[in-house]
Amino acid sequence: MATLIAPSMLSADFGRLAEEIDMVNSSDADLFHLDIMDGVFVPNISYGFPVVKAISRLARRPLDAHLMIVDPDRYVEMFADAGVKYLSVHIEACTHLHRTIQNIKERGMKAGVALNPHTPAIMLKEILPDADFILVMSVNPGFGGQSFISSSLDKIAEIREMARIRAPHLLIEVDGGVNKENAPLLVKAGANILVAGNSIFSHSSPKDAIRELKGYI
Ligand code: DX5
Ligand code: ZN
Repeated sequence: MATLIAPSMLSADFGRLAEEIDMVNSSDADLFHLDIMDGVFVPNISYGFPVVKAISRLARRPLDAHLMIVDPDRYVEMFADAGVKYLSVHIEACTHLHRTIQNIKERGMKAGVALNPHTPAIMLKEILPDADFILVMSVNPGFGGQSFISSSLDKIAEIREMARIRAPHLLIEVDGGVNKENAPLLVKAGANILVAGNSIFSHSSPKDAIRELKGYI
């Protein structure tokens, strides 16, 4: 399948949010990646429902919300109501992950399981057939603009191998420090969705950055 590109809106200029959304709408990007941080699960606070709903009204690509929050179950319905189509929760934040995944799917969204860099791939063994996608964090979550942790490549390959029999349609999303240099390696390792913030929004031409990530340039 073609690689999907998901610009992380955390790196957008929020003073010109409508223009930044338009840029994504008229680019080769496939999803809007929305980072939700609560200041508890991660040492940073990002934005909440007023911003998610504003993006939802203007976006012409599906919304992919990445919840870096404790107790995500409390908000699953609200994200569905806000128009989110891909919803990921952290394995480290969920005591009853199987129940949370079913809850997300019952609301008509694709359910993702996100892993911090220190969490081994084997933790996914039982949940893999139930998840629609896995989000591999290739930086410690909380901030945009950090350097890619290179061991994430082996982790992606390991998850792809685990999924070969148990979850052949599994999507693997990678998030953190993704750029045009590591993108081809990530795709080769088995990633299907590339999230990128800094490498897109700090580029002199964000649309070209998206095309580069897609492999078109
Ligand atoms: C980090 C977020 C990422 C981040 C990616 O906690 O989950 O989505 O915004 O940004 P870059 O591509 O700049 O690392
Ligand atoms: Zn993210």
